[in-house]
Amino acid sequence: MYYPEELVEEIRTKNDIVSVVSSYVSLKKKGSNHWGCCPFHNEKTPSFAVSETKQMYHCFGCGVSGNVYTFIMQYENYTFPEAVKALAERAGVDLPEVEYSAEEKKRANKRARLLEVNKEAAKFFYYQLRSPNGERGMQYLQNRALTPDTMHKFGLGYAGVNGTALVGYLKSKGFEDEVIKDAGLATYSERRGLSSQFWNRVMYPIQDINHRVIGFGGRVMGDGEPKYLNSPETMIFDKRRNLYGLNFARTARAGNMILCEGYMDVIAMHQAGFTQAVASLGTAFTSEQAVLLKRYTDSVLLAYDSDGAGVKAALRGIGILRDAGLSGKVINMKPYKDPDEFIKNLGKEAFQERIDQAENSFYFEIRILSERFDMQDPEQKTNFHREIAKKLCELPEEVERENYLQAIAEKYLVSPDNLRKLVRSYAAVAESVRPIERPRSGIATRQSPEENAKKSQRLLITWLVDEPSLYAKIKQYISAEDFTDELYAKAAEKLFSGWGQADFQPASIISMFEDPEEQRMIGELFQTTLPTLESRQEREQAFHDILLAVKQNSYEYYSARLGVDAGALTKVVEGKKALENLARTHISLN
Ligand code: CTP
Ligand code: MN
Repeated sequence: MYYPEELVEEIRTKNDIVSVVSSYVSLKKKGSNHWGCCPFHNEKTPSFAVSETKQMYHCFGCGVSGNVYTFIMQYENYTFPEAVKALAERAGVDLPEVEYSAEEKKRANKRARLLEVNKEAAKFFYYQLRSPNGERGMQYLQNRALTPDTMHKFGLGYAGVNGTALVGYLKSKGFEDEVIKDAGLATYSERRGLSSQFWNRVMYPIQDINHRVIGFGGRVMGDGEPKYLNSPETMIFDKRRNLYGLNFARTARAGNMILCEGYMDVIAMHQAGFTQAVASLGTAFTSEQAVLLKRYTDSVLLAYDSDGAGVKAALRGIGILRDAGLSGKVINMKPYKDPDEFIKNLGKEAFQERIDQAENSFYFEIRILSERFDMQDPEQKTNFHREIAKKLCELPEEVERENYLQAIAEKYLVSPDNLRKLVRSYAAVAESVRPIERPRSGIATRQSPEENAKKSQRLLITWLVDEPSLYAKIKQYISAEDFTDELYAKAAEKLFSGWGQADFQPASIISMFEDPEEQRMIGELFQTTLPTLESRQEREQAFHDILLAVKQNSYEYYSARLGVDAGALTKVVEGKKALENLARTHISLN
C-alpha cells in the first residue's frame, strides 16, 4: 500500500459518495438510494444506485459496484494512488510525501515492478520510433496510413536491430535482470545473458483499462515469421482477461462495442472515429472477455476477418456473447479482409453504413449454415430445415424463438407451421436431456458446484452487510474460514473483525485491496442482489437456507482436505456440530 490504511479510510469518510458521484452523474433520491443513469454502460433509464448509508454504489444493469475510490478510479481512469490524491485534495487532507529508499524499492511488490519496467520499455520503444534509428518503423507505420496523433495515442514504438539496447537501457534505470526477464521483455541464456525478446519490429504496447502497459505485441515490417510476436503471459499480463483498446473504448459510449481480431484493426477504427473498437490479444475471444465487455455494453458488433477462419471465429464468438447475455451482430467486411483494409479503401462513412447494416447473429448463423446445403436437393433441404429447428431450440425464450421462427421461415421460404412442428419435436428431446430455460445474464449456463457455493457466500455476505445486527446472531456458527473462495475469506475476515469496532463501514474494506479487479469483486460481494421476499417467514427461511448452504459447503470442502490440510480436522468436527445445531435453530430477522 502506498498510504497507511487509516489515512485512506479518513479520506474516504471525508468524501461523501453521494456528493462525489453527483458531480459526475445527475442523481435523484428515491427510497433509501440515490438513482442515476450508469456512467459505465449505456442506458436511458436509471439503474445506478448510490447508497448514502452504505457509502457504496451498485448498477443493477451492468453489475459494477464499489466505494468512492473505485468510482473515481473507473470514471477518471485513475490508479488507486491517484484516486487517493484526488480525493485527499477534494477533502483538504494533507498527504505525506512518499519517498522510496533503495531498500523499499526492492521490496515493492513484484506486480508494481513489472508495470514499471513495462512502462519504461514502452517509453524506450516510443522514443526509438521517433529517432533516426526508428526511421524504418516510422516509414512502415506511415505507409499503413497512421497519423502522428494515432501513433501517439496508442503509444506505438519501435524495437531496433540492436538486441541488447533495451536491456542496457532498463538496467541503467535500475531494473534487475529478474524483473526484465519476468516481464517477458528479454530471454536469458547462460552464454549470452539477457537478450531482448523484441527485435526489429514495430511495437504495440498493450494497456489495461487503467492505461497501464501490461504487455507488448511486435509486428515485423513486411513479410516474415512470426508476423506478430507477443509478450508471454506474466503476473500482470493475462490474455484471457484483457482486451486491446478497452482503455479507450470503455468511455466511447457509442451504445455498442466493436470486437475485432487485430491490433491494426483497432487502431484503424479508432483513427476513423470508431473509438468503441477492441480486440483480443492474439488469442481466441474468451468468456472472461465477454464478461468484461458486459460491464460497458449490451451490444457487441463482430468485425472479424471475412475469410473462412474469420467466419469460424465469429461463430464461436457469437456463442460466447450469447452465454454472457450479450446481443451480437456481425459486420460484413466484404470485399475486404478486415476493418483496417476496409476503412483504408472505402472510408469511414462506408464503414458506418456497414455498422448500421450489421447482421443479427442468429441470422448470420443460419445464413452460414445454409451455405452448407444444396437447396435444389430435397434431402439436403430437409436437413437444412432440421438444423434451423435445432438452432431455434437453443433460444431460451418462447417469444424470441417464435419471432425468429417466423422471420427465418419467411427468409428461407419454409412453412412456419412445419418449422414449428420440427422445433417442438426437437424441444421435447432437448427438454428431456437438459432444461431449456437458461439464465439471461451471467456466464453460468450450467452452474458448477463451485459457482453455486460462491453464490451462497456472496448472498450471505451481502445480507450481513445490509443487516449487520444479524452477525451477532450467527457468529457462533460461521467464521471467515467457511468462505472457501480465497478473496471472499479475506473480505469476511475484515468484515467480521470490523464489526467489533466502532464506526465501522464495510465500504472501507474495498480499498484495502490494491488490485482494481479485486476491488470490483469485493464491491460485488457486498452488493449481490438479494431475493425479494414479501413475508418475514419467507425471508427467515431464505436466510437460514443460505447460511446452511455456506456451512454445508465449508464442511464438504474441509472434509475433502482431511489428511492434506492440518487444520481441516478441527473445521470438520466444528462444522458437523454447527450444521446439527443450525438444523434445529430458528434465526429471527427483525
Ligand atoms: N496474431 C498473433 N501472432 C501471429 C499472427 C497474428 O498474435 N503470428 C494476432 C495479432 O493479435 C493480430 C491478430 O492475431 O493482430 C490478427 O492477425 P492477422 O489478421 O493476421 O493480422 P492483422 O491484424 O490484419 O495485422 P496486419 O494488418 O498488420 O497484417
Ligand atoms: Mn490487417
